[in-house]
Amino acid sequence: MDANSPTAPAASKVPPAFFEQKVTWVHHWTEKLFSFRCTRDPHFRFVAGQFVMIGLMVEGKPLVRAYSVVSAPWEEEIEFLSIKVQNGPLTSRLQHVQVGDSVLIGRKPTGTLLTENLLPGKTLFCFATGTGLAPFMSLIREPEVFEKYDRVVVQHTVREVAELAYRDFITKDLPEHELLGEMVAGKLLYYPSVTREPFPVQLRSTALIESGKLCADLGLPALSPETDRVMMCGSEAFNADMIPLLEARGFVEGNNSNPGSFVVEKAFVTK
Ligand code: A2P
Repeated sequence: MDANSPTAPAASKVPPAFFEQKVTWVHHWTEKLFSFRCTRDPHFRFVAGQFVMIGLMVEGKPLVRAYSVVSAPWEEEIEFLSIKVQNGPLTSRLQHVQVGDSVLIGRKPTGTLLTENLLPGKTLFCFATGTGLAPFMSLIREPEVFEKYDRVVVQHTVREVAELAYRDFITKDLPEHELLGEMVAGKLLYYPSVTREPFPVQLRSTALIESGKLCADLGLPALSPETDRVMMCGSEAFNADMIPLLEARGFVEGNNSNPGSFVVEKAFVTK
């Protein structure tokens, strides 16, 4: 059938809620984890910490999921971190994207992991499991975050060492970055933990908080809602276990209408 004929399937038409962008870079961290970058429409604006619906056209329809943006708002391209689930409707396909392929990027980023949803504080603790690291990769490249906080802690917990995505970027490249290096040096504290392989720290975030080990190892006072602010991004089970721990310590959840002492991202891709 002639693709231009009026009877051609509306199939290939990108719905108006999305930008069609081109993949420019793909990196596979492990069999279950990859990152990719794509071009950025000049009209695509977002705030560090936000997520957006992204995906592919499948059988003429957009197949999309919520993904936090990894790249910083000032960067030219947009980057995402994804799991690969072999029978996952989207990630079973998305994992095969290659440079030059088209992807859909939603026009309306949103989300709760914004510094404006937190009351002023001294130390910002960012807790992530797995791909939950993504929004924090954007936040730690946002100068405003370092203007607001004396310290920013990124606590990333994964099952296997190879899943510590962006570890070299955080520990090596970022401190040497021409513009951001000085700002993050001394302020950014990275604390990785690996639960199912030998590693210097082999505890879940929950255990790191309950035992006081995280703060002790970083030379910080015990976690307190007086001075500390918390952002978290991970699985539902992780949120369910983390929230009571924080609430028991007097932390109050913030959102887009009321700032608080902690915020949680509930949109998280598991398929
Ligand atoms: P663990 O290996 O002890 O299950 P997942 O891939 O299941 O989302 O897990 C990613 C990381 O998050 C793993 O290190 C896992 O630890 C940890 N994790 C999973 N569930 C929780 C939870 N409820 N609270 C804290 N950490 C969790």
